[in-house]
Amino acid sequence: MFDSGLGGLTVVHAIMKRLPSEDIVYLGDTARVPYGTRSAQTVLNYARACARKLCEHDIKLLCVACNTVSAVALDMLSVELDLPVLGVIGPGAAAGAKASEQGRVGVIATAGTVASGAYPRAVASISTRAETFMEAAPLLVPLVEEGWTQGEVPRLAVRRYLTPLVAQGIDTLVLGCTHYPLLHEIIASELAALRGHAIPIVDSAQATAAELAQLLHERGLATDRTAAGALRILVTDMPGKFSEVAARFLGQSVEGLDVTAIDL
Ligand code: DGL
Repeated sequence: MFDSGLGGLTVVHAIMKRLPSEDIVYLGDTARVPYGTRSAQTVLNYARACARKLCEHDIKLLCVACNTVSAVALDMLSVELDLPVLGVIGPGAAAGAKASEQGRVGVIATAGTVASGAYPRAVASISTRAETFMEAAPLLVPLVEEGWTQGEVPRLAVRRYLTPLVAQGIDTLVLGCTHYPLLHEIIASELAALRGHAIPIVDSAQATAAELAQLLHERGLATDRTAAGALRILVTDMPGKFSEVAARFLGQSVEGLDVTAIDL
């Protein structure tokens, strides 16, 4: 699996819960994060380098944990690599379309993901009646990186980003970025306050873990081992507060985990 940084560990967390016996090699491109503000061409180049590095690790499947990469580079990776490739947008969009009763699906994501149009395309390919409403929420990534997931600052930012979506009458919200599950509580309470009642919130990490389990099973790739799988973490830069930030995304301490700094 790879992501632009450590945010993809939210997807690792969901996959480890669902498929505890699978071995995971996770590459976080911490030297070049964020991807969400960069051009599609730059993200394509970065994605190719990450995928190439992971292929040196004898992987059976590649999971792109980053929404921005999934939005612009998934087709290229699927064509260029000789193994199954799964992104987070297809599963998130499918779960969003399914959860939406009136077919008004809201998505918050990075500017790159919004510009790509990948979510509206994915939702339209699943449901002809569903409409997608997108809002770029660029401030939420740095807030989560800083650990500001509680209090007035994230609350105001979240409210600002959700207001136009609520004005469009969304009845479901997809969290279209690796970092947003850490703001789930504030997003849920602001959304309920703006909308007047709670509406479904879809975490694409959970939807991806479910689709990954199905894909491994269908392709006969699921491990038949019952012992716990190993998690190996590769990072292109060892950022300050690595352990603290990684633990927040992974939902557990990273002490004792196999973490290696690499070059791409
Ligand atoms: N991983 C990115 C995503 O899910 C968010 C962080 C970034 O901008 O690189 O879109």
